Amino acid sequence: MIRFENSVPEYAPDALLAVAVLVGVWLLVTVVRYVWADRGTRVSMRQAVRVRWGWARLARMAGLTVTDKTPSLLAQITAQKDGPTPAPRVLTPRIKVTPDRFGVIVRARTLPQVGVEEYQKSARFLADAWQCTRVSVLPDGPGKVVIRGVRSDPLTTPTTHRPSGLPPVDLTRWELGIDEYAAKVCVSLANVPGVTVAGVPGAGKTSGVNKFVCDFAPSPSVQIVTADGKVSRASEGDYADLVKRMFAFCGDDLDEANALFKRLVELRKRRSATIRDVLGVKNLWHVGPSPQWPLTVLIIDEAHTYLREYKGSDATTKRLAALTAENARLVEDLVKKGRSVGILVILISQKTTGDAIPTFIRDVCPIGLSFAQKTVEAAVAALGDDIRNWPDASPVTLQDPAYVGVAVMAMQGRPGYTRIRTPYVSDADAARVAEATSHLTADPDLCLDALLASTGRTTAPPPSHTK
Ligand SMILES: Nc1ncnc2c1ncn2[C@@H]1O[C@H](COP(=O)(O)OP(=O)(O)OP(=O)(O)O)[C@@H](O)[C@H]1O
Ligand SMILES: [Mg+2]
Repeated sequence: MIRFENSVPEYAPDALLAVAVLVGVWLLVTVVRYVWADRGTRVSMRQAVRVRWGWARLARMAGLTVTDKTPSLLAQITAQKDGPTPAPRVLTPRIKVTPDRFGVIVRARTLPQVGVEEYQKSARFLADAWQCTRVSVLPDGPGKVVIRGVRSDPLTTPTTHRPSGLPPVDLTRWELGIDEYAAKVCVSLANVPGVTVAGVPGAGKTSGVNKFVCDFAPSPSVQIVTADGKVSRASEGDYADLVKRMFAFCGDDLDEANALFKRLVELRKRRSATIRDVLGVKNLWHVGPSPQWPLTVLIIDEAHTYLREYKGSDATTKRLAALTAENARLVEDLVKKGRSVGILVILISQKTTGDAIPTFIRDVCPIGLSFAQKTVEAAVAALGDDIRNWPDASPVTLQDPAYVGVAVMAMQGRPGYTRIRTPYVSDADAARVAEATSHLTADPDLCLDALLASTGRTTAPPPSHTK
């Protein structure tokens, strides 16, 4: 039997004090976080409070509650014989709300008959109730969903990126930007031999690759070489500052480019011939790139300059046609055989149709990015035929100037496409990083020489190992 004393327990004041202190600390932390947050996050913090407080009511109106007619165990025990049957209970999913700069992330539980599909059906309703531009619902493990609500459209909100100048923690991770729900989009570079980047002039292609160079430049395990079809000299154009961190560069001269691609194919052959002996593996990605065996990235901007088909019978056109045909064969070699020895080719072109970049190169590049496009045909060339089935994500819809810097990419590992807002890296920041990291530049050929010498091997591989 429970006995109630007529006096308050002795420890009550202490317990009250402890509760008051805890509430006080929690309030203080919340206020400090609010004051420190940027403007967008503050608005989201207030929005999060509204979402939490209004949830029980809203969930009922959105049909996200369920009525449980069976009394709970406690109600069954305490119910008196012949007494009134306990009223059915309305179950509301429990939620946890986290605000960020763009809106709120709501983690919710599912209930019987209230699963991911039901949440997805109410997404539009929730978006209106929470005053969000867009709400997405995705499964978050068994019995859980994550609801993302964004107030402003992350795709039309330009972002900037200030390179840290520190080596990336993970060399296989290329952080591209954020998607339409402000979630980070990264792609894995491990075992990727080629990336194509397409889009109309001024859409943000070079700028996107600029970020790649700035992020990876501080790592001595990455070496970069560029062919830019837009300029005649290294001191001109978009790569004028970054060239300090490149072990080679060539402009629009086809002969020069031809010599550069030949040099890289030679490197590819030497690496293929020696990788097992030197690294003890057949695939570089089993051990990862190192300063001795760096990931070698070939950036070919305005790739059509070097690879397009020339048609004509006069001597000059024939010479150019022979050169671009050979360039295409050399780049094909790098894309098809370079993956396991750590060579990555990034091909940038306004249009990636077969006449600009031969399909035997384009179609073996596993990652395709497309900034704004004028025609569906150009979008199909850049992203594959499946983009016709996803008109909402098509790069043709990105022609508004608000979408400069927004690219479309096929999802890795699931159907469909994702739109990505890539951040802008200022020329001054790019120049700063290139200057500060220029001492890390090394020719991968010389790195291989040094590695072979240090392991007691000659530069020429033994005949049994040559292909
Ligand atoms: N992510 C971005 N966010 C905001 N503005 C951007 C972004 N990327 C590019 N821009 C703006 O667009 C301009 C053109 O970008 P960029 O040189 O990358 O275009 P491009 O696609 O390479 O064009 P082209 O085909 O002519 O070489 C930049 O100078 C910059 O002002
Ligand atoms: Mg460009």
